[in-house]
Amino acid sequence: MTFQKVGIAGAGLMGSGIAQVCAQVGMQVVMMDIEPSALEKAKEGIAWSVGKFVEKGKLSEDVGTILARISVTTDIQAMKDMDIVVENVPEDINVKREVFKTLSGIVRKDTLLGTDTSAIPITELAAVSRHPERVLGLHFFSPAQMMQVVEVIRGVMTNDDTMEGGVAFVKAIGKRPIRVERDVAGFLLNRINFPGTVEAIRLVEEGIATVEEIDTGMRLAFGRKMGPFETGDMVGLDVMMKAMMSTYEETKDMKFYPPVLMQRKVLAGHLGIKTRKGWYDYNEDGTRKA
Ligand SMILES: NC(=O)c1ccc[n+]([C@@H]2O[C@H](COP(=O)([O-])OP(=O)(O)OC[C@H]3O[C@@H](n4cnc5c(N)ncnc54)[C@H](O)[C@@H]3O)[C@@H](O)[C@H]2O)c1
Repeated sequence: MTFQKVGIAGAGLMGSGIAQVCAQVGMQVVMMDIEPSALEKAKEGIAWSVGKFVEKGKLSEDVGTILARISVTTDIQAMKDMDIVVENVPEDINVKREVFKTLSGIVRKDTLLGTDTSAIPITELAAVSRHPERVLGLHFFSPAQMMQVVEVIRGVMTNDDTMEGGVAFVKAIGKRPIRVERDVAGFLLNRINFPGTVEAIRLVEEGIATVEEIDTGMRLAFGRKMGPFETGDMVGLDVMMKAMMSTYEETKDMKFYPPVLMQRKVLAGHLGIKTRKGWYDYNEDGTRKA
């Protein structure tokens, strides 16, 4: 299975990041979104980010060569000749179902349909698709340009060829695939990470330690690049809370339940780096205030 032509459905934060990663390894990318303004913003963001990589000597090609591989459209029909389509529309089951229904009627029979959902069962999207055996989860981590790992998730109907194709695609874009052999809530890595984050927030709520102390301790003790609160601010407290809540709803296990302190921060709009306030305060350029 080769991946020359990649379709990206939904060109927001994740879709634009994935489009960039694919173009950087030489793939032709068609980025589709229903909002022309989202496509404009995505193009600008990609140009800026590729520029940064080139400046730091991390890419051998120039910005123009890489950008020339990405075309944009508001017409979903443009997905018809893709080797793989990675769906990145909002985390809303109705929107995603509609996109899968339409997409699966347009693409070739052998096209892989991957979803970057954080928490919606892969099987539910496969069920509305014409070839459910070609549907799989491709769960990226944000920012997709930087994070080196992608979960490749098997839905109930996903066949072996599709799993192998997903693994091959992730390797082809220079990332490490992590195979997840069953479609469970939270998939694999969040399922492991969320309980630790919930516990860290509870310890802050109880006044046992500060956010800074926990993050510093977790970094130094376990060789992590970021502590749980730093990760939360980067991902977005709203995004993380929603994913925790859906994992809780499916498992009914309190270890995934977002603590009140987190819920209140989300209500207050303190969502992390994107709102310049979360567990920490941030400057305009996203650096942390001293
Ligand atoms: N943000 C994260 O950290 C993160 C990490 C992993 C996975 N995800 C998942 O990735 C997906 C996208 O998240 P995001 O943060 O990029 O969202 P986003 O809101 O930044 O982008 C979504 C884009 O989809 C577009 N869109 C809406 N309806 C559409 C349609 N019918 N067809 C085509 N485009 C449509 C919107 O205009 C928007 O540009 C979600 O399922 C999310 O759960 C997010």
